[in-house]
Amino acid sequence: MTQDELKTLVGQAALSQVSPGTIVGVGTGSTVNKFIDALATMKDRIAGAVSSSQASTVRLQALGIPVLDCNEVDELAVYVDGADEIDHKGFMIKGGGAALTREKIVAAQSRRFVCIADESKLVQALGAFPLPVEIIPMARARLIRQFAALGAQASVRLKDGQPLVTDNGQHILDVRGLQITDPVNFELEVSQWPGVVTVGVFALQKAQVCLLGTAQGVRTLTF
Ligand code: 5RP
Repeated sequence: MTQDELKTLVGQAALSQVSPGTIVGVGTGSTVNKFIDALATMKDRIAGAVSSSQASTVRLQALGIPVLDCNEVDELAVYVDGADEIDHKGFMIKGGGAALTREKIVAAQSRRFVCIADESKLVQALGAFPLPVEIIPMARARLIRQFAALGAQASVRLKDGQPLVTDNGQHILDVRGLQITDPVNFELEVSQWPGVVTVGVFALQKAQVCLLGTAQGVRTLTF
């Protein structure tokens, strides 16, 4: 199976995690797009969605799924999202689609994080994928120096030759050369650096379940 077919497989499998009548937390990315397409087949049986990005909102609404503001709903039963890396404890790197801040907000509001991913995303240790960090632009140069002091190389993510601007009006650093052996403490520490909006390590909001697309079918990992 191709990577795209594996994404379709887990996107459809994630419907099993959605209870009729509920509001669903929806992440961002190409794997989540498959989930959104699948969710449209049961749109009359859910109460709507809370979205983690403008891109997902547009797709949900185009398929006739109502999108609610985070502030209008209480706890969500489930949040379904992809990952750039997930380890064997359910810790993840996210933010390849630049939506990490809103993803972390919706994840924090949800009882269960269901990660959907193809098997290429499962890793022994986090850090091979460049770590996305959403930052306030004014802090860019100092934050690049702070990552350099950890032995890592941070660079501003560009789009069409200019710094990419997130849904929140901020910029993204992609940080290479990190070995994240203690994701919880790493997330706690970097989150406190002035100018960091969100670090793309999801350890405090880790996955409870991962539906992993493999050549043999969907593997369910629980953490
Ligand atoms: C977006 C994300 C995505 O979940 C992550 O980048 C995975 O994307 P894809 O499903 O396209 O591989 O964190 O900010």
